Amino acid sequence: MAGAGGKIVAVIGGGLMGHGLAQVFAEAGHAVRVFDTSADVLGTLQARVRQNLIDLGRAPGAERLVTPCATIPEAVATAHFVFECGPERMAIKQDLFAQVEAAAPRDAILASNTSVMPITQVMERVQHGERALGTHWWNPPYLVPLVEVIKTPRTGDAAVASVSALLAQAGKTPVTVHKDVPGFVGNRMQHALWREAIAIVAEGICDAETVDTVVKASFGRRLAVLGPLENADLVGTDLTLAIHETVLPAINHEPGPSPLLKSLVAQGKLGWKSGEGFRTWTPGQQAAIRRAVFAHLKALIDQGI
Ligand SMILES: NC(=O)c1ccc[n+]([C@@H]2O[C@H](COP(=O)([O-])OP(=O)(O)OC[C@H]3O[C@@H](n4cnc5c(N)ncnc54)[C@H](O)[C@@H]3O)[C@@H](O)[C@H]2O)c1
Repeated sequence: MAGAGGKIVAVIGGGLMGHGLAQVFAEAGHAVRVFDTSADVLGTLQARVRQNLIDLGRAPGAERLVTPCATIPEAVATAHFVFECGPERMAIKQDLFAQVEAAAPRDAILASNTSVMPITQVMERVQHGERALGTHWWNPPYLVPLVEVIKTPRTGDAAVASVSALLAQAGKTPVTVHKDVPGFVGNRMQHALWREAIAIVAEGICDAETVDTVVKASFGRRLAVLGPLENADLVGTDLTLAIHETVLPAINHEPGPSPLLKSLVAQGKLGWKSGEGFRTWTPGQQAAIRRAVFAHLKALIDQGI
């Protein structure tokens, strides 16, 4: 049965992202039905949403609109929208969408939350491709507003309009991505920055901690309220051109991953999970950063940004 929001939203995969999406739609008053292959994940679903609400300082209750489902048909049979948050593996996603399409209403909108995989390929086995698209959320879904809505060559404008209206009603900031390119928009820009950050360290220009300090204490402060093209217009396209003529030839443009990154992975220096990556990390330092990121994102939401 639908909640006050009126829609039935199915989520496939109730892990880190899936339970967050479930929370967003439940808080917007929709009935949410979540399928996962793990009984553990299903069993803790409502408690995880409830804890998030408490951590956010919001009244719990919305978690009661989130129903764990043991099968795909149980989750999607009456759904208006299906959001897939399963593992980042192409064959699994393709198989999930074939099963979802067989069990969902003919007009249900089908969306994948893949981070970087081409939506066209994820939806290859979907017969009615006009209702299939990508919706790329950011973690945590209940604190980061953006959702990139990605069209494939088969996606219809009606599906984009319909999912964008649902996302906006749920308090998200949907944007349309017209071409299904790897990394969509956000991750292309984010990883262009990461490539340069790694190259700066590899070239001995400064150390990893300094790279992070430079970003956090300078343009990182402005980014939440001043996008790069707003900034280019602010300083002037003429100045931007002059800067690019000097700087772009010096910026890294290797097509593949950095040898420094590959060597860290080969040595088992995997970052937080092994205690060392570009920098070394104690559990206390990791917890402090997690708290700082949560508090920062929550403060932006509280300020309406
Ligand atoms: N973590 C992020 O920051 C982030 C951000 C944006 C997009 N994504 C994408 O979202 C998706 C989910 O990522 P996550 O971080 O939530 O991963 P996760 O591992 O936390 O969750 C995946 C869930 O899928 C379940 N699962 C495994 N096989 C399944 C199957 N056959 N059918 C249904 N469920 C199955 C697992 O039990 C698990 O609960 C991935 O495609 C990921 O790339 C992740």
